[in-house]
Amino acid sequence: MISREAHEELMKKWPGRIYATPGRVTKRLTHLEGLLPMLKGKNVLELGANAGLHALEICKWASYYTGVEPSPAYAAQWHITMQYNRDTAKLFPNLEHGLIRWQNIDALVACVMLYLLEPEELGYLRERMRDFDTVIIQERVAGRGKKGNTTNGLHTPEAITAWLTAQGFACYEYWHRKGKFFEIVGHRS
Ligand SMILES: C[S@@+](CC[C@H](N)C(=O)[O-])C[C@H]1O[C@@H](n2cnc3c(N)ncnc32)[C@H](O)[C@@H]1O
Repeated sequence: MISREAHEELMKKWPGRIYATPGRVTKRLTHLEGLLPMLKGKNVLELGANAGLHALEICKWASYYTGVEPSPAYAAQWHITMQYNRDTAKLFPNLEHGLIRWQNIDALVACVMLYLLEPEELGYLRERMRDFDTVIIQERVAGRGKKGNTTNGLHTPEAITAWLTAQGFACYEYWHRKGKFFEIVGHRS
């Protein structure tokens, strides 16, 4: 995984507001790292790509990466982080644009963002997920209050597992040992 020094060097180059600080993402990235070998050789879609730190790790295993990131500032950060992965990775501003690349997608990664999708976007995603064989969702355990702009309820393990199960995935949950966040992995059953 990226070293603290390299992360801090990237932060100096990133324009705009920075979400992906070491304090916010390092533990979650470390936790996720053990699951990434299951993406070996796959064409992976990542939603909520932010500054590209997940993309860097995913690209060590995947054969191709498609990211979606609507914020222009975060997208600019992604391009700086991913400057050496131009042949194997592309970024799009929304799900609809991402569709153009989606024909061969096998796997989905969505970290701390599923709850942000609009109902229409969830519809697009469901359509495509029939073709995917692996899904990795990461989320914080702490609930989201009224200010947490939850639109669809997909921020609890129960809701996410039910959503994936209804789409034909067998689900496994992985919990951070201090219970701060979790991953749900779905394999097509
Ligand atoms: C809480 S941050 C999580 C970032 C990163 N995935 C992580 O785990 O550290 C949520 C990200 O999702 C992006 N986002 C918001 N709405 C989105 C949407 N409708 N489709 C895709 N990404 C979205 C935000 O711009 C932001 O980069």
